[in-house]
Amino acid sequence: MPANILDGVKTAAAIRAEVAAEIKKMTAAGIHPGLAVVLVGHNPASEIYVRGKVKSCEEVGIYSEKHTPSGSVTTEDLLALVHDLNRREEIDGILVQLPLPPQVDSKKILLAVDPAKDVDGFHPMNVGLLSTQREGLVPCTPAGVMEILKRSGIPIAGQNAVVVGRSDIVGKPMAMLLINANATVTVCHSKTRDLAALCRQADILVAAIGRAGMITREFVRPGATVIDVGMNTVTDAAEFERFFAGNARREETFRTKGSTLVGDVHPEVAQIAGAITPVPGGVGPLTIAMLMSNTLRAAKLRRGTKAA
Ligand code: GUN
Repeated sequence: MPANILDGVKTAAAIRAEVAAEIKKMTAAGIHPGLAVVLVGHNPASEIYVRGKVKSCEEVGIYSEKHTPSGSVTTEDLLALVHDLNRREEIDGILVQLPLPPQVDSKKILLAVDPAKDVDGFHPMNVGLLSTQREGLVPCTPAGVMEILKRSGIPIAGQNAVVVGRSDIVGKPMAMLLINANATVTVCHSKTRDLAALCRQADILVAAIGRAGMITREFVRPGATVIDVGMNTVTDAAEFERFFAGNARREETFRTKGSTLVGDVHPEVAQIAGAITPVPGGVGPLTIAMLMSNTLRAAKLRRGTKAA
């Protein structure tokens, strides 16, 4: 039986509507939450992500501003910008889009962001708060995954969850959130032995590796919930065929655009999974919705209003 498709677009719209309703109330009370996005240089993928973030702010009523230092910016100049944003009262959230150019010390920059304004949840203070189950700001992508699981009625407590990928942005915080929700969690990575066998133990499988279609049907227990965090652009015709041969809609996109987006999960998995997030239209929209939600939370926490 084909999987239940977990609709990230719909879930993200519901989250944005909830955020917008709260922002409207705050604005009426004279509080205008604000987000500053820092985009360094001209990384095409980052430019697309940032455009989506700014547009989403407009939709929910969050004030936003974009800072675009050149690709040759120094760590010191970027630190000065972050310090300035930290000081500004009307800025509730600061997001420094990653990756940063190689001459910039990314760790130093992330450490400089005021933890109270760290809407990405990347500051070591927020990482520590999450790992000790204290109130803080949680990274947007894993927070979005938890939202879609909960809102889709998928049980988490007592379930076997396997997270493939151990990045600071997704894998590690994802594992922490699932542990905090009482799942039994295994974290796998490129050095893991017999990855497929471990993945087959999963009731909930989260793929956050960054390799197109790596999770094939041998990795998935029939009926499992599969969350695909991957966003891989495929431009090679042979690779395209491997994933989407016979899919008329995808073939049309590939012909006209010369590329298509593929997750870390092979499309064949949709035939055996119990539930699955599509790419596009799964986790991607949730990430931006959770950024809006985090900005609202930061505004409330900083201004002493109880967070939702
Ligand atoms: N680059 C890729 N994903 C992210 C993210 O979630 N936040 C930031 N700041 N940069 C990213």
